Amino acid sequence: MLTTTRIQNAEEKLSKASQEINNRYRLGYHIMAPANWINDPNGLIQFNGEYHVFYQHHPYDENWGPMHWGHVKSKDLVHWEHCRVALAPGDACDKDGCFSGSGVDHDGKLTLIYTGHHYIDKEKDLFYQNQNIAVSQDGVTFEKVGENPVIAEPPADSSHHFRDPKVWKHDDTWYMILGNSTKDDVGRVILYRSSDLRNWEYIGVLAQSDGTLGYMWECPDFFELDGKYVLLISPQGIEEKGDLYKNLFQTGYLVGEYDYNTNKFEHGSFTELDNGHDFYAVQTFLDDKGRRIAIGWMDMWESDMPTKADGWCGALTLPRVVTMGSNNKLLMNPVEELALLRETEHEVSTNQIISGSYLAEIKEELLEIKATFDLKNTSAQSVGIKIRGIEQEEAVLTYQLDHQKLTLDCSKLGKEKDGVRNTILEESDQLSVHVFIDRSSIEVFVNNGQATMTSRIYPREERLGIELFTENGDVKIEEFTYWKLKDVWK
Ligand code: FRU
Repeated sequence: MLTTTRIQNAEEKLSKASQEINNRYRLGYHIMAPANWINDPNGLIQFNGEYHVFYQHHPYDENWGPMHWGHVKSKDLVHWEHCRVALAPGDACDKDGCFSGSGVDHDGKLTLIYTGHHYIDKEKDLFYQNQNIAVSQDGVTFEKVGENPVIAEPPADSSHHFRDPKVWKHDDTWYMILGNSTKDDVGRVILYRSSDLRNWEYIGVLAQSDGTLGYMWECPDFFELDGKYVLLISPQGIEEKGDLYKNLFQTGYLVGEYDYNTNKFEHGSFTELDNGHDFYAVQTFLDDKGRRIAIGWMDMWESDMPTKADGWCGALTLPRVVTMGSNNKLLMNPVEELALLRETEHEVSTNQIISGSYLAEIKEELLEIKATFDLKNTSAQSVGIKIRGIEQEEAVLTYQLDHQKLTLDCSKLGKEKDGVRNTILEESDQLSVHVFIDRSSIEVFVNNGQATMTSRIYPREERLGIELFTENGDVKIEEFTYWKLKDVWK
């Protein structure tokens, strides 16, 4: 079947399926497909002034399957418009899936570089993967190039896991990194170089697990930030260690120095990028304002995904600006454009001392909250916010002052089995919390991006309301403001 027919079929299916969706958990201001399954963000780029986001997509089912690329675009990173499905699998170069990849501007054409997935024996999960290119004249319709696959096979010492190309230009040369593992299952990232995006030369290994960082590294990204180099990876197989690495797979980063002449990347240790339940396969791009913007998949493999019963599954995180903090720590903050979502502002409290609980009876599902607690003059042992419902049906964000420990507990909102995530914050005189709540998600940004926690939540009923609280003492609230946010999909 022709690729255009496959895309038309997918579009027809999506338009039908989107009429049948149960909207109870549909997000109001996050990227989702019109219906059915999505995972990783792909091909992030600002092209001719518009932001394009693609995503792994199965237009025919609410479960993962033959991967297509879905596509949305936006002028402001807030209001998104669905475009037609960009890539459908089934050609010789991508028989069983168009897996994750990236987007670049090549000679003024939006160009996608992605992995072709091919089953040798599907039952036994035997497969091979190669790298391919598709080009668009109009930014919406893509044509796979005749030279595909542009990289047919992995290097000799590699396993068959060979995917997720991230491509960028440095001086006049194109570079590509790929998620990969060695023949004996050591996760790593490998590097290629090209002058024309068609012919690629293998350079070598950019970074590799020291034995503690898993059997396969997915979805790499590599960029310069504040004079340092950052390698983002999504490793599979890191063992849980106390409060660390609690999700099935992780997403995190290595920061160091890189030399293009020697391909040497000297880096520090692995740090998780987000401490919530649902953050994976993050990808970044540089926009016209010089911001490094990150978007992740806001779910986790093999987790409970109750929206499957509603005819859709999967969403992307809010766009976040990534900056370099002290000690090579990455900070993530929501892009400032998200203020366009604000409808009504409520300044509930400034400089008020609370002890026990302070309840705001908010009747809204889509909310942004900013709260700042003064930690200098407090007698409380812990302070926090209860979100989306009161009377023990809520998500609870708690900060324990003596341990500097921040906890997000979603066990009452759909994460019954494994509801708690913790992270330790640096010492500070203030706790400033910036939270975005959507119908089935919560994203918490703390102390100007020092920590973020992203989780899907599934409130059982329409329980609305926010409560600030203290335990064993009082605290001064320096600011408590919330905004009702708009639903950009309505
Ligand atoms: C990461 C991932 C990628 C792959 C894609 C397939 O979540 O496993 O490595 O390209 O999803 O959908």
